Amino acid sequence: MADDMTAVLRWADRADGGPAVVLLDQTRLPAREEERWCRDVPALVAAVRELAVRGAPVLGIAGAYGVALAAERGDDVEAAADDLAGARPTAVNLRVGVERARAAWRAAGPGDAAAAALGAARELHAEDARASAAMAGHGLDLLAGLLPARETGWRLLTHCNTGALVSGGDGTALAVVRAAHAAGRLERLWIDETRPLLQGARLTTWEAARWGLPHTLLADNAAGSLFAAGAVDAVLIGADRVSADGSVANKVGSYPLAVLARHHGVPFVVVAPVSTVDLDTARGADIAIEQRGAEEVTGSGDGRHAPAGVAVHNPAFDVTPPELVSALVTERGALRPTEVRRLAAGHEGPRAT
Ligand code: MRU
Repeated sequence: MADDMTAVLRWADRADGGPAVVLLDQTRLPAREEERWCRDVPALVAAVRELAVRGAPVLGIAGAYGVALAAERGDDVEAAADDLAGARPTAVNLRVGVERARAAWRAAGPGDAAAAALGAARELHAEDARASAAMAGHGLDLLAGLLPARETGWRLLTHCNTGALVSGGDGTALAVVRAAHAAGRLERLWIDETRPLLQGARLTTWEAARWGLPHTLLADNAAGSLFAAGAVDAVLIGADRVSADGSVANKVGSYPLAVLARHHGVPFVVVAPVSTVDLDTARGADIAIEQRGAEEVTGSGDGRHAPAGVAVHNPAFDVTPPELVSALVTERGALRPTEVRRLAAGHEGPRAT
């Protein structure tokens, strides 16, 4: 995270005006850096649904702090945890974070339960920062092995937002891009605008500018001609859930990029922490895909550009099959998506690329 950036997410205790989960409101970026104070779980659930806090890893962290908030307030923790876990369906990290804090709360004695939930949330937050740093290193090593050296550096394309705004650290895919830049190996980051909510145009450009990454924004439908021109060396994206067969759910528009990348012989790399891998979901087709409101597609800001009442299809995510994914980079190393079962608890973990 840039040192001068408002914290993406923090816990405020009573001495600090809390208890509250305090978010950097991502719906206001890039125009304003505004904090949003969530003083109870319904407020936090609303913030999650509105995408004031968004992106898989930080949703898990928010969910864990949410359980701590309910416990600290003396609310019905079981009901609050259920509400949080169900706030958005696709990013499995949200459920993982909630369940981790709920388990700590359940296991603790009556006097210690709130502190135990908060401790679990803080631990998850710190772990995510460490995972992010590890993914950046593994991702850079992977790219160095996959891509031919170019004197001017690599041209990397990304979709949605996967930086410090989604993480306790530098993020997932964008953390790798930042590491490539620090190593002097980035020529340009191509940033898909990411219709309809513009996470690329609003958030990734903002982060890229703060980090000094050379970057260019494009409309999503301009990606094809970039590939055709030979101007993309690799695609790097994050993930909201990876199922046991290695299918990757990520922001809608990821799958068409994977098809383009395959057609043009360009590596398509997914960067995600192990907490995004859901071995309980067997296949990509089993991943619940969030459907969002029509107004996100029919207009933007206060304006509407489609006729009133038009039927709208607005899935927030799509699923890329494992055969289109060159590698999955986690904090434990890089592996082929079809080998994702090796990430099961107790397994030694990946070393393959
Ligand atoms: O709807 P969003 O903005 O929460 O979607 C986020 C994404 O799709 C990200 O690419 C994904 O969570 C990976 S972030 C590490």
